[in-house]
Amino acid sequence: MSKTVMIVGHPYWNDSVANKAIVDEFLRLNPDAVVSNIAELYPDGNIDVKAEQEKLLEADNIVLQFPIMWYSCPSDMHRWLEEVLAYGFAYGHNGDKLKGKRFIVSFTTGSSADMYSKYGVQKMTIDDLMPAFAGIPNHCGMQWGGYAFSGGMMIADNTDDEQLATLRGRAKAHAERLTRLL
Ligand SMILES: Cc1cc2nc3c(=O)[nH]c(=O)nc-3n(C[C@H](O)[C@H](O)[C@H](O)COP(=O)(O)O)c2cc1C
Repeated sequence: MSKTVMIVGHPYWNDSVANKAIVDEFLRLNPDAVVSNIAELYPDGNIDVKAEQEKLLEADNIVLQFPIMWYSCPSDMHRWLEEVLAYGFAYGHNGDKLKGKRFIVSFTTGSSADMYSKYGVQKMTIDDLMPAFAGIPNHCGMQWGGYAFSGGMMIADNTDDEQLATLRGRAKAHAERLTRLL
């Protein structure tokens, strides 16, 4: 069976509803997956690069899980990418350690899926956001495994049972779609 590591980036993890629900559901479906939650592991922002690289070496599938913030991944996820996917490890001279692994991104947006179209509110599609992520496996000799996306994942009132139930249903379907990409 292939091994999966899920890197979770979310600078406001304590306030997360959607990404928390997706991670929980993903772990229920994939109990052997390793989850590396940046906010929980490194609250001071000092990422243990060696430890993170070790997790990647052990994995066949690398999943990045995050909420879209300003049309990209949030700051802690980007910092993780900058530091962990280092020269000599992920790319460049002798940088072949991730070669052949599968790279997948899994993310949520506040805007609904239908707002992400050329003529919709966002004036762009979700595919328009992907080149920066698809470039990573291309540069590191990994396989691009695609993405799992859920829109409309921001709820106005996270004490409202009905809104929470809708969101949890979307998170469950998201985790199932993500699992099919592994
Ligand atoms: C700083 C910030 C920037 C955001 N930028 C976007 C964005 O560019 N597009 C979008 O659809 N949603 C955006 N959102 C909404 C988040 O994607 C949404 O709240 C998140 O997916 C919900 O997941 P969570 O409950 O795990 O936080 C943004 C939210 C924050 C706080």
